[in-house]
Amino acid sequence: MQIENNVDLRPFNTFGLPIKAATLIHIRREADIHQVLAHPEYGRAPKFILGGGSNIVPTCDLQSVVLKIEIMGRHMVQATDQAWIVEAGAGENWPDLVAWTLENDFPGLENLALIPGTAGAAPIQNIGAYGIELKDRFLSLDAVDLKTGRSFSLAAEQCGFDYRDSIFKRNLSGRCMITRVRLHLPKNWKPVLDYPDLQRLRQDSGAARPCARQVYEWVCALRRAKLPDPAMLGNAGSFFKNPIVNNKQHAAILACAPDMVSYPLPGGGFKLSAGWMIEACGWKGRRIGNVGVYARQALVLINHGGASIQELMALAAAIQDSVHQRFGIRLELEPTLI
Ligand code: EPU
Repeated sequence: MQIENNVDLRPFNTFGLPIKAATLIHIRREADIHQVLAHPEYGRAPKFILGGGSNIVPTCDLQSVVLKIEIMGRHMVQATDQAWIVEAGAGENWPDLVAWTLENDFPGLENLALIPGTAGAAPIQNIGAYGIELKDRFLSLDAVDLKTGRSFSLAAEQCGFDYRDSIFKRNLSGRCMITRVRLHLPKNWKPVLDYPDLQRLRQDSGAARPCARQVYEWVCALRRAKLPDPAMLGNAGSFFKNPIVNNKQHAAILACAPDMVSYPLPGGGFKLSAGWMIEACGWKGRRIGNVGVYARQALVLINHGGASIQELMALAAAIQDSVHQRFGIRLELEPTLI
């Protein structure tokens, strides 16, 4: 295993914050984890697991041992009557994995194209976009318990998936390192085109039954039009979650804000558009110092270059306060603060 000290984490967090890690260990095989756990110095030290750094906001230099997950490999491991089962090492880049499945004619991940991050991080926040969440395509994962060193597997129903949430953000937070994930890609594939912009693109194209590659191209075009590329402009995707409210709260907000964008949930209640609320408070496109709100999607906060964590948190708090004052809703942060 490769160990580095005093590492600049700027390239490893997509917001590009100037943070350092006292110790960073590259984990390329499961055996590296066991070696770390048996290490006289690092074995008992607090640990932080780093994937693609696309959904974290480091708030200070990290004194814990940072384990950077770099376990690679992607294979179709089984073809059942219903599905192709694809397995990926946790360090695989998610957008590359999605592209690879489509090149190999395993459809099903096209709506999740271009989401920055690693395959191993995808279950943690149950990544989702354009009408699909990871849980809809997830079969199981392998992980190592960082306290006991025990290897174990979890099936989808054991992961407690919810909107941008899973057991890995709750009971198992910081407790285990995901090493491999397995996805279940349906053979009787049907396009998922409920998202209004996808419906519009389908209508414009005149395609009666678009193929998965076509849907992939549409999703890539939509993302490129609405969301900044972290390689060009530092960001961590949506900085806030879309809040979920009950029917009574929804009716009360709608009475004051009749144009509010919201979506009814299957089990009752509504998901409100945080982007709409932030825009309604006048934040879209605003810049304060080196940080700002993206001009094409108000949910995304951006680093114009040289941003500090203090500037970022001050902007996030100011947005939360104005949304709270106007709509009575306190927005929750979507990335994990570390
Ligand atoms: N809207 C505005 N102003 C904005 C942004 C959105 O009015 O600045 C309203 C519009 O009515 C728009 C609607 O909200 O039509 C929905 O916007 P969008 O399709 O961009 O979706 P979102 O709810 O803002 C969520 C995810 C995104 C994901 C998109 C598409 C969360 C926190 N965010 O955003 O995920 O790409 O849906 O499925 O759920 C991410 O998690 O990092 C992320 C980018």
